[in-house]
Amino acid sequence: MPLTQVIETGEPTRLSQGVQEATGAPVLSPRMNEISPSPASILRRRARELREAGRNIIELSSGNLHFATPDHVIATAHAAAQRGETRYTDVDGIPELKDAVRAALQRDHHLSYARNEVVICTGSTQALFNALLATLAPGDEVIVPAPYWAPYLDQVRLTGGTPAIVPCPQNNGFKLRPHDLELAITKRTRWLVINNPVNPSGAVYSREELSAIAAVLLKHPDIWILADGLYEHIVFDGDIAPTLAEIEPRLKPRTLTVSGVAKAYAMMGWRIGYAAGPAALIAAMINIQSQTTSCASSISQAAAIAALSGPQTLLHERASILRAHRGLFAAIIDNCPGLSCKLPEGTFYLLVSCAGIIGKRTTDGKEIRTDRDFAAYLLEHADLAVFPGEDFGLSPYIRISFANPASTIEEAGMRLRRACEALQ
Ligand SMILES: Cc1ncc(COP(=O)(O)O)c(C=O)c1O
Repeated sequence: MPLTQVIETGEPTRLSQGVQEATGAPVLSPRMNEISPSPASILRRRARELREAGRNIIELSSGNLHFATPDHVIATAHAAAQRGETRYTDVDGIPELKDAVRAALQRDHHLSYARNEVVICTGSTQALFNALLATLAPGDEVIVPAPYWAPYLDQVRLTGGTPAIVPCPQNNGFKLRPHDLELAITKRTRWLVINNPVNPSGAVYSREELSAIAAVLLKHPDIWILADGLYEHIVFDGDIAPTLAEIEPRLKPRTLTVSGVAKAYAMMGWRIGYAAGPAALIAAMINIQSQTTSCASSISQAAAIAALSGPQTLLHERASILRAHRGLFAAIIDNCPGLSCKLPEGTFYLLVSCAGIIGKRTTDGKEIRTDRDFAAYLLEHADLAVFPGEDFGLSPYIRISFANPASTIEEAGMRLRRACEALQ
C-alpha cells in the first residue's frame, strides 16, 4: 500500500509521524543521524561518474579480489539451483553448511562447536550487526582498535551503543597493546572487536600477542569478544591467522568467532558469512535474522559448502600470488616521494603513510592538507581510486589494494609515482 494511502486512511500515528506535513517528504529516524553515508559508496559514486565521463579509473580501493570464484563452487551452485534448492532455508542456515562451518573451525582452529552454536548469515556483515543488536543497550561501549573497518563503528551506533576507539599507531605495528586495552575498559564496556588479520593495515596478531590480550580480558568477565577473522586465510607467513577462542579456551564461552567465504574463496558477492559462539547469543541472533532476512541465499549456501569442504590448496596458491603482488606494490611505494609503508603480514591491503605529502601543493596551487585531500587528488588527477586513512580512523594514510592483476599494479604504480612527483 503506498504511504500516502496509508496516511489518508488514518493508519497508526507512528507512520503518519514519519511524514512531514508541509513537504510530504518522509522523515528519517533520528537513528540515521548517528551514522554517515558509507565513505566507500561516496568514493564509488565519484569514480563511476569519472568513468562515465570516459576516464580510465583504476580501483585500488575495492574490497573485491581480482580472483574468480573457484569453478567447482560455481558448478555446485548451478547444480543446487537445478535441483530446486531455491526455497527459503532454515533461518540459521542449512544443516549441511553449518556442519561444514563446524568442520572448518575444527580443521583450522581446533575449535569445536555444536550445531546450535553456529549461524549462517548474509555475509559476515550481518553476523556482526545481529550480534551487536542482540546485546547492546544505549550507552554501552564497544572497544574498537583503530585503524578499523569502518562499519564496526556505524553498526555500534545504529544499535544505540558507543564506539570506544583505541588508537593503534604504526609504531605499535597497528595492533592493540594489552595496556591500551586495559585503559579503555570501563563499566560500560560490552564488547572488544578484534579483527585478525586487520583491515586496513594487514597486521596479523601472533598467538603470543593474542594471549597477552586474553590475559587482560580474563580479568573482565562481563566483556564479550567479537573475533572477526574474515581475512584469516590471506596471511603471508603461516597457513592461517589465529583466533582468540583457540588461544584462550576460557574466553570461548563469551567469544563470537566470525568469518565467511568472501575473501578466502573470492566469493564477495555470494554473501555468506557465519558466526560461532555461545548458544544463547546465537539463538538471539537467529531470532533477529528470522525477523529481518529470513535466511541467507539457498544457492549461495550450497556454494559455500563446496568452498569450505572442497580442496583447500587454492588458498595457498592465491596467498602466494597476493604475496608477490604485495612485493610489487611495496617496491613501487618505495619509489614514490612522500610515501612509505610497512609490509602487511596479511590481507590484500597496504596502509601507506602519506605524511611526506601533507603540506605539498598541486600544480594548480592547491595544498594537500589531509589524506582525504590526497585521495581526492589521486582520483581527480591520476585516475586512481584509494581510500583515505581517515575513513579507517588513522591519518595520514591511504589504503591501497594489491588484489589486482600485475599489469594493473604496474600501471597504477606509474600513475602514483608521477602524481607524487608532480607535487611541490
Ligand atoms: C574486516 C571485515 N570484516 C567483515 C567484512 C564483511 O564481509 P562480508 O560481509 O562480505 O562477509 C569485511 C568486508 O570487507 C571486512 O573487511
